[in-house]
Amino acid sequence: MDLPKGLAGVVVDQTEISSTAGGKLVYAGYEIEELAQASYEEIVFLLWHTRLPQKGELAAFSKQLVSEMVLPAESIRLLLYIAKEPQHPMSILRTATSLLGTTNDVIFDEPPKILAKMLTVIASIVRIRQDEPLIEPDFKLGLADNFLYMLTGKKPDEFLSRLFNTVMVLHADHEFNASTFSARVVASTAADYYSCLTAAVCALKGPLHGGANEQVFAMLEEIKGSHLDPITYVKQRLAAGKKVMGFGHRIYKDGDPRAKILQGLARKLAQKTGNESYYDLQVTLADYLLKTKGLHPNVDYYTALIYHCLGLEKDLFTVIFAACRTAGWLAHIMEQKRTGRLIRPSSEYIGPKGRKYAKDHYQIGSEF
Ligand SMILES: CC(C)(COP(=O)(O)OP(=O)(O)OC[C@H]1O[C@@H](n2cnc3c(N)ncnc32)[C@H](O)[C@@H]1OP(=O)(O)O)[C@@H](O)C(=O)NCCC(=O)NCCS
Repeated sequence: MDLPKGLAGVVVDQTEISSTAGGKLVYAGYEIEELAQASYEEIVFLLWHTRLPQKGELAAFSKQLVSEMVLPAESIRLLLYIAKEPQHPMSILRTATSLLGTTNDVIFDEPPKILAKMLTVIASIVRIRQDEPLIEPDFKLGLADNFLYMLTGKKPDEFLSRLFNTVMVLHADHEFNASTFSARVVASTAADYYSCLTAAVCALKGPLHGGANEQVFAMLEEIKGSHLDPITYVKQRLAAGKKVMGFGHRIYKDGDPRAKILQGLARKLAQKTGNESYYDLQVTLADYLLKTKGLHPNVDYYTALIYHCLGLEKDLFTVIFAACRTAGWLAHIMEQKRTGRLIRPSSEYIGPKGRKYAKDHYQIGSEF
């Protein structure tokens, strides 16, 4: 059998939530370029209901989400305990997501409360890691502004508010990517929301998926630290058989539509924060890889610089991605629970056949 490795090109189910067909990212019928300026809450509503909210609905939805951002004391106690550990923040988030599913009354938690709690947990992990006090949500701010405020301790100005909102919108969903598919597999077994989200966080952690944003910045730092010409660095990296992080995509072979928008945001933010040298380095690498390998930057490439400009350490980048993507994961978990069937594919067995079992086999010729 000629099987597509990594399920490349295989359509495993139908969805009404989002699409990447034809190299365009579309949320419920709206191209991402149309939505880049929409508020994050509007996009969460769109992904969950496959329609945009009316004005009154949006105000009520936003109020509900923000009001649910306060964590129970029990969860804060657990977070203060686990987030100080030296483990990677994504490992802390994996444990924290699972812990959220074990506190009192969680069987009654619905997606708005779960999303709000996840954002607060992620902001709290960041604050605890930075030895900063936790911040309560401000009920006058929207969801994305509150998340940024609870991360940084500063209420965002108009420029930052718009920029971060767009970052969240662009990361909110991406049809059957690895973490979303993992969440859907778990949802297909009729498991609870927190189990599905824990699986999604595990999949996002890997450097070929969400973990790439941290690796992009590690690479930029390495280039700067090495004092090598960036092109020489990339040539050496490729010659050693290593990938250049933040480039390439399973679906977008002619460019990731999110990266184009994020590049513009990174340029503006880098100028404002004195990080132009990183931006210029990124453009040099991107030009070279396009010309020589036909590789385009993906969503993680310029986002890494944006997070750096926001003052975040690189090991925190992927938990921010998780915060943005939780809305999409929840949309897919709901759809899978509503319309899906147990996901249980088959495999082609290629191991030995017809072997006979001898009861004392381990005594004769065993290498153990
Ligand atoms: C995202 C990714 C896993 C997609 O993988 P994929 O769909 O299996 O694509 P392939 O690995 O088959 O790539 C096709 C070719 O491009 C090359 N390629 C893809 N991404 C590359 C990269 N970042 N650096 C160098 N070469 C790359 C592959 O080596 C392969 O070359 P070959 O045909 O000579 O063997 C891959 O591009 C990658 O590892 N990128 C870096 C990690 C990253 O940024 N991840 C975030 C994704 S949003």
